[in-house]
Amino acid sequence: MEVIEQVSALRAIVTALRCGGKRIGFVPTMGALHEGHLQLLRASARENDVTICSVFVNPTQFNNASDYKLYPRTLEQDISLLQSVGCDYLFAPSAEEIYPQQSVLQFSFGELEAVMEGAHRPGHFNGVATVVSKLFHIVQPHKAYFGQKDLQQVAIVRQLVRALSFDLELVCYPTVREADGLAMSSRNKRLSDAQRQQAPQLYKALQLAAADLKQKPVAAIRSEVAQKLQQVEELELEYFEIVDSLTLQPLQDISGQEEVALCIAAFVGEVRLIDNMLVNLKEG
Ligand code: PAJ
Repeated sequence: MEVIEQVSALRAIVTALRCGGKRIGFVPTMGALHEGHLQLLRASARENDVTICSVFVNPTQFNNASDYKLYPRTLEQDISLLQSVGCDYLFAPSAEEIYPQQSVLQFSFGELEAVMEGAHRPGHFNGVATVVSKLFHIVQPHKAYFGQKDLQQVAIVRQLVRALSFDLELVCYPTVREADGLAMSSRNKRLSDAQRQQAPQLYKALQLAAADLKQKPVAAIRSEVAQKLQQVEELELEYFEIVDSLTLQPLQDISGQEEVALCIAAFVGEVRLIDNMLVNLKEG
């Protein structure tokens, strides 16, 4: 695997690959790689001639300076993991390389960013859209791989691809979890042992809500989840929403819905975690 830090060097490689008729798969990440990332990389290696991964802790998508500073950075370990899953190129640029001048680009995603992560992390999706657009221009992939773990990010990127006519296919893979249900996340590395024990309660709350979905009204499920999580020490619920799985708009009533998404965000100590679950209401 070749490690590339310069945009110009990667552009030269991409041009040569495309001239040679190679199909390029791309997995954008912020590093501190885990099995959630690796499943995307394996899929890309299977489905394309060449796989490019980016590891870039993107400053413009952090609305909290300490979250950016404390974000885990484990490049040496990432490199050996990437080699083990057949990644061909790692793009690991500096912040100056990606942002030679301060970024002032403004995106707007309408109602999609007015809810959940968009509402609670001002500027976050603007930063995501900025860096993903830049990376798509530099890497020019045929297929780009994202995880359902960040469901709203997938919806934003889908809208971005359509709005800017990026010529690529977006592929989304399910959330990979630890044995106790906790969604894998680079931020889990920041949890203390006690917090790590409590963190699976997020997923437990989603399971509880899913089980109640056909029996109880939305408002009752919401307060049940809030009440349950209130009892967990060091856990502070930020939001729990039952939303349309495509528009991600919160629902007060699920009748007539084919599929909903249950979405949750909470602080466990200082660490902010998110999770979600898709529930098909037509089944069974
Ligand atoms: P990062 O959090 O590193 O995630 C990179 C990709 O891995 C995302 O598409 C994310 O949804 C996916 N992923 C993370 N945890 C996962 C899990 N447990 N199961 C399945 N997929 C998982 O998301 C970002 O980086 C950034 O916002 C980025 C898109 C790279 C832009 O900076």
